[in-house]
Amino acid sequence: MEFRIKTGEIAQRKTPCILIGIFEGRKLSEPAKALDQATGGRLSELLKKGDLWGQLGATLMLYDLPGLAGDRVLLVGCGKRKEYGRDNYRKAVGAGVAVLQQTHAGSALCALADTAPNGLDLYSAVRDIVTTAEDKVYRYTRTKTQDKQAPKTPLRRLEIWVADQESAGTAELAMRHGMAIAAGVALSKELGNLPGNICTPSYLADKALELGKHYKRLKTEILEEADMEALKMGALLSVSRGSRQPAKLILMQYRGGEADSKPVVLVGKGLTFDTGGISIKPAAEMDEMKYDMCGGAGVFGAMVAACELELPINLIGVVPSSENMPDGDANKPGDIVTSMSGQTIEILNTDAEGRLILCDALTYSERFDPELVIDLATLTGACVVALGKHASGLFTADDALADEVLGAGQNAGDRAWRMPLWDDYQQQLDSNFADMANVGGREAGAVTAACFLARFTKSYRWAHLDIAGTAWLNGKEKGSTGRPVALLSQLLLERSGLITKAG
Ligand code: BES
Ligand code: MN
Ligand code: ZN
Repeated sequence: MEFRIKTGEIAQRKTPCILIGIFEGRKLSEPAKALDQATGGRLSELLKKGDLWGQLGATLMLYDLPGLAGDRVLLVGCGKRKEYGRDNYRKAVGAGVAVLQQTHAGSALCALADTAPNGLDLYSAVRDIVTTAEDKVYRYTRTKTQDKQAPKTPLRRLEIWVADQESAGTAELAMRHGMAIAAGVALSKELGNLPGNICTPSYLADKALELGKHYKRLKTEILEEADMEALKMGALLSVSRGSRQPAKLILMQYRGGEADSKPVVLVGKGLTFDTGGISIKPAAEMDEMKYDMCGGAGVFGAMVAACELELPINLIGVVPSSENMPDGDANKPGDIVTSMSGQTIEILNTDAEGRLILCDALTYSERFDPELVIDLATLTGACVVALGKHASGLFTADDALADEVLGAGQNAGDRAWRMPLWDDYQQQLDSNFADMANVGGREAGAVTAACFLARFTKSYRWAHLDIAGTAWLNGKEKGSTGRPVALLSQLLLERSGLITKAG
C-alpha cells in the first residue's frame, strides 16, 4: 500500500473517503468538529439520528455531505474517550481500514491520528496507522487458484492527516518506519502461512539467499549438514536425521554499524513441520505445526525491517531449520546425543525438538561475540496455556534486558510478559544417563524449556521469547500474525537511537 502525510483543511481535500473518529455518546473528535463546521452542522445532525453511538470499532459510512471535497465520510467509533488508549486507537484504525477494503473507495484520508489518546505521541500514532492498515489488508493467496473473498477495489493508498506542518517531519519518519516494520511483518506472515511441503528448510535457505541479493548490506550464508557435522552439532542433526529434507543453518549478517561494534544476534526456531517424531503428536490440528518455523520467520522479518530502516547497528540472524519426522532413523526416546557445547542430552520426548535445534544454534552464536542474543521460538504448548494469544513469554535472568524487551513490546503493541527462569526449576531436567534430559515433566513446561536453553547461553546476555501462543491465530482467523517482528524492530530502533524509548 502507498502512504502519504497530509496537512491542511480536511474539508477541502479531494479524496474518495475521509476517516474520522467519534467517541461514545456521539462526541466528535477534533477533526470531526472541523468537518462538522464545514458541512454546516450536517454531521452532528446525522449523528442525532442515532445510528452511530461511538462504540469501539462500530462504523457508519456517509455520502454526499455538503461542503466537503471528499466523496464519503467514514465515521469510526473510538469507544469511551476516557478509555481511549493505544490499544483502542489501533482497533479503531483497523475497523476503519476493514470497511474501506469492502468499499469502492480504493484510497482514503485517515484523520484518526489527531484523535490519538492522551500520552500517545504523534510518531506512534502515525506509525500505528501504517502497521495496522498493512496488517488488515494482508491476504494469503500463494496457493489458491482463486481468491473469492478478494476485495473488488482493494485499498491502495492511505493518506494520513496531521494537524500542522510542524508535525509533518515526525509523521514522515513514523510513516517510513511503519512501512519498514510492516514489510518485515508481511514477510514473516507469508513464510509462516506457507505449507510444510513448500516451506522446507531448503526453501527458507533460498529465501535468505534471495534477501542477501536484494539488500546490499545483508550477507547470507547457508551451513549444510556436512558443515554442521564438522561443527559437532549433534543435537540439531539428531532431529533432521529423521527427515528426508536436509537441515540448513541459515546465517544472515546485516552490517549497518561500525566494523568493531558488537552485533545483536537473533536466533529463530525454523522447524518447518513438527510431527513430534516418534513421540508423535495427535492428529487433530497437527496441520498447525507448519507454523513451527515462525521463530525463524520472525528473524527473517526483523532482518528485512533492519535493512529497510537502514539501522546503524550490526545484526545477525541465525535460523536453524529442520523437519521433525518419525522415521527409521529418527530420534528414539532414551537416545542420548552430544550437543556442540559438549553437553550430553537424553531425549526423553522426541517432540521437544525445538530446544535441540536451538541449543546448537545458540552455541554457534558465541563466535559472533554478541552484544546480546534473543531467541524466538514456538517452543511449548505450555506457554500457550499460560499466556494465550495476547503475550509472548519472555525468559531472561537479565533484569535490564527484560525491561528493554518488555518496553519495546509495549511500545510496538506486540507485548511480552516475563516468566521466571529461576534455578529452582533446573533440577527438573536432571537425567540419570546424560548431563540433562530434554524435558522437565508436566509442571512449568515453558519454564523448563527456557531453563534448558539457558544452559547453552552462559557466555552472553540472552533473552528467550516463547511465541507459541502469539505467532499464529487459529479458528476462523487461522493464519500467521507476524509476531514478534514489531517488538524486535522497536527494540532495534530504540537501540539504534533513532527513536526514544518513550516512542
Ligand atoms: N512446536 C511445539 C510447541 C507447540 C505446541 C507450539 C503446540 C504451539 C502449539 C514443540 O516442539 C513441542 O512439541 N513441545 C512440546 C514439549 C513437551 C514434549 C515437553 C509440547 O509443548 O507439548
Ligand atoms: Mn515438538
Ligand atoms: Zn516444535
